[in-house]
Amino acid sequence: MPAQFHPAGLLSFSETDRSPLSIRARALVFIDPRSRQLRDQVESLAPARQPLLIRGESGTGKELLARHVHKHSERSGLFVAVNGGALSKAHGAAELFGHSAGYPAGPSSRAGWLGSAQGGTLYLDEIADLPLSLQQRLLEVLQQGAVWREGASQAQAVDVRLIAASSLDLALAVRAGKFNAALFELLQAGQVDLPALRQRPGDILALAEYFLGVYSQRLELPLPLLSEAAEAALQAYHWPGNTRELENVVHFALLVSQGQSIRADDLQIRGY
Ligand SMILES: Nc1ncnc2c1ncn2[C@@H]1O[C@H](COP(=O)(O)OP(=O)(O)OP(=O)(O)O)[C@@H](O)[C@H]1O
Ligand SMILES: [Mg+2]
Repeated sequence: MPAQFHPAGLLSFSETDRSPLSIRARALVFIDPRSRQLRDQVESLAPARQPLLIRGESGTGKELLARHVHKHSERSGLFVAVNGGALSKAHGAAELFGHSAGYPAGPSSRAGWLGSAQGGTLYLDEIADLPLSLQQRLLEVLQQGAVWREGASQAQAVDVRLIAASSLDLALAVRAGKFNAALFELLQAGQVDLPALRQRPGDILALAEYFLGVYSQRLELPLPLLSEAAEAALQAYHWPGNTRELENVVHFALLVSQGQSIRADDLQIRGY
């Protein structure tokens, strides 16, 4: 384990992950009545400082929704995305809460992810993967509005809005002794549920057309139409990988069709 860590290198801001397009530049395509209702709900919660918990299956768009909340919050600080399971075993507390100069995690002091989100929003993905000891400290930070950096002799005030995300049922994790009950209660008060893509079928074709537009522009291909058979296949599928899977399927189909109309055969829908 290296004696020094570099937060910006250890944990990536997730807009650079997985997707070749900057997530920051993305529109939130929410057409289905359930989605519209959810958008109204989160926009009304956006200006508050209360923590939020976004529950939803993998690939549903939790991070994009969290960014939407941040944009509507008028908070001037950064949106900082961290995965609860990506903190290092040895220096997780220092990475998250920061550390003072001379602390074993590094010679100069660091603000940590929490401090980087000062005045803004900390998006904590898969919060159930955060070790229990850090859950307890996070709860204290939220309740006190102050953080003790590792090795620090005094606490520092923090103004950070927490948006946590989970694909798991945290109530079950509490019962299994794997999640801090008091932190759960705090988060549960601001819980929003992001339905799986199959539960908001009105979004499927709108998203497919959106991704066709985005990728055809990027790849400098003509914007293809979806054939009726392709539309029917997209609508009929259950999308276990949600919007991320749809994005990948559409991207691939565009490459195969080279800007021609997309046929059902161009869609690599395999299911699992
Ligand atoms: N409503 C939407 N409109 C446009 N793009 C979307 C929408 N929902 C999701 N996406 C895109 O789908 C991909 C997955 O979204 P995101 O990363 O926000 O999901 P997630 O729920 O955080 O996934 P995970 O659980 O794997 O972390 C991203 O590329 C995102 O930009
Ligand atoms: Mg995510």
